[in-house]
Amino acid sequence: MAVTIAVLKETHANEARVAATPETVKKWTGAGLAVTIETGAGLGAAITDDAYTGAGATIAATGTEAAARGDIVLKVRNPSAAEIAALKPGATVIALLDAHREKETLQALATKGATAYAMEFVPRITRAQVMDALSSQANLAGYRAVIEAAAAYGKAFPMMMTAAGTVAPAKAFIMGVGVAGLQAIATARRLGAVVTATDVRPATKEQVESLGGKFLAVEDEEFKNAQTAGGYAKEMSAEYKAKQAALVSSHIAKQDIVITTALIPGRAAPILVTKEQVASMKPGSVLIDLAAPQGGNVEGCVADQIVDVNGVKIIGFSNIVTNIATDASALYAKNLQAFVGLLVNKEGALAPDMEDEILKGSLVTNGGAIVHPALNAQGQG
Ligand code: NAI
Repeated sequence: MAVTIAVLKETHANEARVAATPETVKKWTGAGLAVTIETGAGLGAAITDDAYTGAGATIAATGTEAAARGDIVLKVRNPSAAEIAALKPGATVIALLDAHREKETLQALATKGATAYAMEFVPRITRAQVMDALSSQANLAGYRAVIEAAAAYGKAFPMMMTAAGTVAPAKAFIMGVGVAGLQAIATARRLGAVVTATDVRPATKEQVESLGGKFLAVEDEEFKNAQTAGGYAKEMSAEYKAKQAALVSSHIAKQDIVITTALIPGRAAPILVTKEQVASMKPGSVLIDLAAPQGGNVEGCVADQIVDVNGVKIIGFSNIVTNIATDASALYAKNLQAFVGLLVNKEGALAPDMEDEILKGSLVTNGGAIVHPALNAQGQG
């Protein structure tokens, strides 16, 4: 029998995204799958129940009703305890589960016997790019960070020469040049800011320059080796951090906008901007901290609050993409559509190849247990 895909409304506060769009639903219903959507699930992303039914879905009155129908249950964030309790035996759950931190959710999914996949664990191999939700969301986060900065800043980004005088361009400094940082550089440049950027990975220097930004970093031996084989940042030595901090200090004092995006997978975010550095900035300057969910890159940052330090605003976002929920949902839904394609065969039946590198890499619970090695490893389990 063809599987039923259930899409649940998000239960987290401050989460407007949804895990399916009429476009992805249509692909599934067109292929003979049944799709059920919890009523109102798409409203935060401007998608009505009617748009989903128009694509062939049925509507469920509650999250538990939708969960009880699904062979495959799709969410953006982790499901609630009530939703997990309502799952069918052996149901598959796919979401950005925040598996390193959401231990209780994982345990509940395991106890329920669910097969759960964490979208944040999808390996970053070429074949999985279409399923890379971290990238699809980080890209929009980088864009939105600049928009939020521009809105909070009392001056303009571009230089303007007017009869009444010249408006100077904003100086924007992007710290952490991963997917979010690159898009922040591109967006700030498009708005006309003078952009500088820094990262511990040497490969980013060329990327910053190709986007029209100027690169700023202590380029010593340690810097030249600061990238893991997987392309992620390494934790830097105390000595390197001190040298880099000294270089950054004089630079930050002259900046109008600072956007921080630096993360190290599985660890607390490194502090990149100290209290003293914040105090050195001009009143009216704005710092946007995208690492707030992992503790923040800016000292004194409080997630989802505007902290005012002598006229300098520190704005920490725990979930900035909720402010661009329609596009974030559309891209995430496409990531999920591609992922579901690994689980369902041409006849519309569940037929996952459990030896597939992508499924193996993202499988977190199966057969009643938490199975991912990174979650069961000593000290992290
Ligand atoms: P991330 O979200 O883990 O970190 C953001 C950035 O912060 C990284 O560039 C990191 O080097 C930097 N950072 C960490 N500590 C820092 C410090 N102390 N000072 C300054 N910067 C610091 O990174 P994201 O966006 O997930 O990307 C990581 C890498 O993976 C990049 O090279 C990216 O291009 C690559 N990637 C590869 C993909 C693929 O091959 N399919 C897909 C997406 C990303």
